[in-house]
Amino acid sequence: MAKFESKIKTIEWVDNCSKMVDQTKFPYEFKYVEIKTGDEMYDAIKTMIVRGAPAIGIAGAHGVVLYALELEKQNLSFSDFKNELLKKADYIVTSRPTAVNLYWAVEKQKNIIKNCATDIKTLIEDLKSNGKKLELEDIEINKKIGDYGAEVVPKGATILTHCNAGALATVGYGTALGVVRSAFANDPTIQVFADETRPRQQGARITTLELVMDGIPVTLITDGMCSYFMKKGMIDMVCVGADRIAANGDAANKIGTYTVAIAAKYHNIPFYVAAPLSTIDTSIKTGDEIIIEERSHDEVTTINGKKICADGVNIINPGFDVTPHELISGIITEKGILRPDYTKSIAKLFE
Ligand code: MRU
Repeated sequence: MAKFESKIKTIEWVDNCSKMVDQTKFPYEFKYVEIKTGDEMYDAIKTMIVRGAPAIGIAGAHGVVLYALELEKQNLSFSDFKNELLKKADYIVTSRPTAVNLYWAVEKQKNIIKNCATDIKTLIEDLKSNGKKLELEDIEINKKIGDYGAEVVPKGATILTHCNAGALATVGYGTALGVVRSAFANDPTIQVFADETRPRQQGARITTLELVMDGIPVTLITDGMCSYFMKKGMIDMVCVGADRIAANGDAANKIGTYTVAIAAKYHNIPFYVAAPLSTIDTSIKTGDEIIIEERSHDEVTTINGKKICADGVNIINPGFDVTPHELISGIITEKGILRPDYTKSIAKLFE
């Protein structure tokens, strides 16, 4: 079992509110905020105060509890309360469309709402305990992912990662960075190269911060540099997270991941995706069916609030891309490492 203990806890249900690290403030501040209403949670997910597929899943589950606490004050009948709460649950998942974990966790809360036959108070307690359960399970799942993944990390490896699939993208420990943490516990000679990840700089602002906090060596590179270092033989393995994986293994992750995967294939470097089973969406056959979030143009035209291009330029800002399954060496899950043919290995896992 994972020997590494990370200091970071990203999101937690405490005293009737959701306490989370505000990720918009990195790297200048590491501060917690308390989200106290359902609408505040919707905004926290949309504005990326909380981000990363598993973390926004837990945020969604907490959001349903927050809406329930508000509706409780309206003296509704039990059946009206349930109907209104189901509408709020459907609303909160529209905050970000790509990560399936958000739908997955909110769906679990919806099932509790639909199946509760007692009263409002009991239902709210059930929703709170389920939120807590999902929260605690997330860390355990990530530790298992980390331990399976560590088995394929070569001794002394340099691991390239893109975006942030770390403790700060989950409740704790991380998926891709969970693999790094478990590998580092056995072999402190490994190190990470982190892509800066334009436009939101999750690699520069978040991955470097959490690895430095945990004492794991990390080198920051800009997005265009990965092929250069691969050609020089300085990258041994790529490990990234995912926001949604189709039944054939196509994996959506932060924009730029696909480029890294192509470069890794060309240079014969293993490319791994680390993700919990809750990221696998067996209802879609291929990555073509994944909805890609289109984000604000300001993210591209500005850096730290300062304009970096001419006024009037055209902008397109997809938040994610889809790496075709042919480029993926393995999908590291809490149940082990899936290998191609993914259509078969994924189907077997969900049998
Ligand atoms: O836009 P973000 O920062 O939420 O995107 C996050 C990613 O793309 C992560 O790699 C993914 O959610 C996996 S997190 C374990």
